[in-house]
Formats: sequence, C-alpha cells, structure tokens
Amino acid sequence: MTVKTLIIGHGAREHVIGETLVRSGAELYAFMSSKNAGLEDLSNRRIKVHSESDFKEIIGFSKENGIDFAVVGPEAPLVIGIVDALERNGIPCVGPRIEAAQLEGSKIFTRALLDKYKINSNLRSKNFNSMVDVESYIKDLGLENVVVKPDGLTGGKGVKVYGDHLFSKQDIMDYCQTLVAQKSSFLLEEKVEGEEFTLQTFVDGKQVIATPLVQDHKRAYEDDSGPNTGGMGSYSMEDHLMPYITQKDVNEALEDMKKVVAATKAETGVEYKGFLYGGYIKTAKGIKLIEFNARLGDPEAMNILPLLKTNFLDICTGIINGNLKPNIEFENKATVCKYLAPEGYPISPKKDELVIIDKEKLEQIGAKYYYASVYREGDSIYTTTSRAMGIIGIANDLESAEKVAEQGVQCISGRLFYRKDIGTKRLLQKRINHMDSLLQ
Ligand code: GLY
Repeated sequence: MTVKTLIIGHGAREHVIGETLVRSGAELYAFMSSKNAGLEDLSNRRIKVHSESDFKEIIGFSKENGIDFAVVGPEAPLVIGIVDALERNGIPCVGPRIEAAQLEGSKIFTRALLDKYKINSNLRSKNFNSMVDVESYIKDLGLENVVVKPDGLTGGKGVKVYGDHLFSKQDIMDYCQTLVAQKSSFLLEEKVEGEEFTLQTFVDGKQVIATPLVQDHKRAYEDDSGPNTGGMGSYSMEDHLMPYITQKDVNEALEDMKKVVAATKAETGVEYKGFLYGGYIKTAKGIKLIEFNARLGDPEAMNILPLLKTNFLDICTGIINGNLKPNIEFENKATVCKYLAPEGYPISPKKDELVIIDKEKLEQIGAKYYYASVYREGDSIYTTTSRAMGIIGIANDLESAEKVAEQGVQCISGRLFYRKDIGTKRLLQKRINHMDSLLQ
C-alpha cells in the first residue's frame, strides 16, 4: 500500500526526514517556503513552494494529493497551529498541537510548568514584561549568573548570556529595556556551567522514547569561539551516550521529559505528540533543562535518522495513533556532522556563490550530504545567507566517522567554511576535562 507522506519545511532537517520516510517506503510530497533540491528529487518533484505558514495552501495541497499524513519539520508553523488546522481537515500530523507546542513557543510557559509540577531539571527564573524588579532580580541571581531570554521564538538570536553577549549590569538593563520597548515578555534566568547535550525523543501522547544523544556546536569558529549560529555541526557516539553523560543521566532527563509530557496534558488538556527535543546541560548540581524544542534538531536530526533501523513510517503512525512500539532501534555507530556555511556567516554571509559538489566522490567515501539554505538553478547549487550543507560521516567509532565527514567536506568547493574541530579527539577530550573539573 502506498503511504503518501507530506514533509513541511525546507532545510537539511527536512531533507533527512524526507530521506528517512522514502527509505521506509513512503511516497513523498514536500511543501516548502524555498525549494530544497534534495526534497525536490526525493519527491520526484511532487512539491509546492509557498509560505509554510499559509495553512490554506498546505491543506489544499494535501487534499489535492490525498496525503495520508504530514510531518512538520520546523517550529514556526507548529507554534501557530499547523497541526490543529490540518487535523481539522482530516489530515493527521506528526507534530504537537498549538497548546502543546508552547513547550517551545513560550519559555515562560515551560519554566512555569516545570515549577508547578516540581520537575527537578528546572532553573531559577522570573518573568517580566516591564523593568519593575529587573534590577533587584539581577542582584538576586548575581550579575555574572544572568541569562536574558525573550519569551517567544527568536530563531536562536534572542537569548543573551552574561559573559558572552552582555558584559555589565548596564548591558543587561539595556537589553531588557529593548525587549520592554518591543512589548516582548522575557525571563531572567540562572546561568549554569556544564556540558550541553541533546536528547531527541518520539512522543505519542504518553510514551517518550529516547534516541541517541547528540552534542551540537553553536559557535561559528573553532574552539567554540565567534558568534552564535544555528549550529555548525554535531556528533554522536556508537554507544548512544557521551563519554561525560552516563545512562543514569539520560534516564534522569528522560524521566523529566515524561513528567513534562504528562504535565502538558494536565495543564492544557492536549496530549503532546511528535518529536520533543530536550536541550539539557550536565552541571555539578545535576541535569538541568536549557530549552525544549517541539521538533527535531538541526543539525541533530542528521545524526540520528540515518542510524534508524526501525521503519520510520511505523514510528510516525505510532505517534499519530498513540501506540508507539517502544523497541525502536538504531545502529550502534558514531556520527559526525559538519555544516558548511557561506564565508562571512552569520554576520555578513556571501550569498549567490556557486557550490560545486563531487557527488561521485562523496558516494565513494560513504559520506552523506543534506541541503540546507542553498538553491538550485539548472544543475548548479548556490549559497543563500544561511548554512549551506550538512556533511555526515558514519562509522564504527567517532574517530573514523570524523575522518569520513572531513573527507566528505573536501568534496565540496565554493566560498564556504566549516569547523574542522567538530568530532575530533581533541575537542572531545576538552569536553571530558571540562566535565571532570566541574564534578571534582
Ligand atoms: N541545534 C539546535 C536546534 O535545533 O535548535
């Protein structure tokens, strides 16, 4: 039986989701705000290029094509109710409804939920919509321990941390004042030190099933320097843990996520269904939650989905029908993703530059590649202003996976840059040493 599946979204995360659906036997359709060449090929051009927040068009395209279910890649349509709109029109979705998507859409909602349900991983925070009490709360937290987080989606650009983006009380006050002027509510939150990890899960309303842990790298340049980006690359280990994150830590984070899913239902009356991304940090005081995302990660989806052994269509229908089978399997392999970005990204990226891809050599090496923010004209690929392509190495151990990713990157030419250090032994050891020093 043909399963007609719609992917909504246009980046590398959606490219790998689409590939995994096709590998599992789906007939793929794609609805995207800009044309992803990978999705165009995987779906044999069964595509529509149009705004991902135009629900009427998405519903029309789904009905015209007799779509069996949709998978929503990015957060933006989720937090404005794409799932509710599609479901009202008889199209089941992998993704949370608007009430449940608040776990990503509102940081104030999430912190309040964790507080009310006494969930251990919560951090100290207070929400504001004016400058009243801001100064005294900065004093309470301690100037050097302050993070400012706008409440809603900011595409990764709104969170500002003392020591990284803000360097004095005045800087913090000025940023808060800017948010007040924009009528944006915000949190002042406790800053914690540790190693971050991503726990992506499949959620069917009740069950929360873990996938291999991943660590992302947000800074643009080597040794975690330079401006923040959407993520310059990521790695995962063959045992699905991290050398500094134990199974006990994962169990703790997973128990937390199960409590959050139950609390979301209790609080909103809506079951959380879809992918739930837990952005956690291991600190000297235990596992703490940095953020939830109501979707898979980008780049982290590229680390886990190519390892999936269980049929992805079965997982998607399990999520939709609330009867996920818990024994989901992944290959015991390590992965390294290196993102290629246009020179100058994220500050002044060089757009409309030619990207030459040696596909034959990539295949020989065994490196996978996913298109992000690039466009195709004729047979040629060009950059835009965001990350261009994710290159993935997969192997029995991290060192070998890093080599494959590195060789893969050499098959791409153009005015691009990437972080050579992601997935290397040296960077991993630095993470291990950092964690050891905090736990002493
Ligand atoms: N890797 C960060 C994110 O997907 O939001």
